[in-house]
Amino acid sequence: MRISVAIDGPAGAGKSTIAKIVAKKFNLMYINTGAMYRAVTFVSMNKDLAPTQVKNICEEIDKMEMHFENDDLILNGENINERLTHPDISKNVSAYASIREVRQKLVKLQQEMSLKYDVIMDGRDIGTVVLKDAPYKFFLTATAEERAKRRFIELTEKNIEVEYEEILEDIIRRDYLDTHREVDPLTMAEDAIEIDTTGLDIDGVVNKISECIRK
Ligand code: C5P
Repeated sequence: MRISVAIDGPAGAGKSTIAKIVAKKFNLMYINTGAMYRAVTFVSMNKDLAPTQVKNICEEIDKMEMHFENDDLILNGENINERLTHPDISKNVSAYASIREVRQKLVKLQQEMSLKYDVIMDGRDIGTVVLKDAPYKFFLTATAEERAKRRFIELTEKNIEVEYEEILEDIIRRDYLDTHREVDPLTMAEDAIEIDTTGLDIDGVVNKISECIRK
């Protein structure tokens, strides 16, 4: 039986940082599903495809080969992770991620990955849709201000020029779009364990999750 761990939660709740550490600890492949939605946004925007051009976007997705290596998304043989976290992508990704056909395609790819590998997957719909039967499900939260602060530090460290207020606005807007969209909105699975990471350090969260997995 393959092991699968689902981590959901809003933007900036620390999902990817935590998932990467837990992946190393338990020898799991880390699948960053947000990066996959970002990659679709990146390709669509490069081709000037608006979120209404669903058919064209789907044709582009069919040409995309996506897999993960050392926590990074490789798109058609190229590591494009640096470009995916750019604020322009963050601003637009929720619009592309709300397209039903896009979600169907990406969910299928994610489920195929979970059949091939032991995975820890983070996103918005992992515990509720992608890995509904995962034995381990976690839902990470933190206040919007704390999440914006973390993103601000992360982007500033990467030398990307950003304003804290702008990030906070983006996070609040994305929270709204992700929780209110028609298809697979962000909600906590009934059987997920909720962890509020406000004021908790990374080790504290990793330990909580590790204890659950070991049991
Ligand atoms: O996780 P990250 O913040 O990089 O995700 C970017 C966006 O992709 C989210 O705001 C959401 O709109 C979308 N997303 C999604 N379902 C997932 C993962 C991400 O809709 N499983």
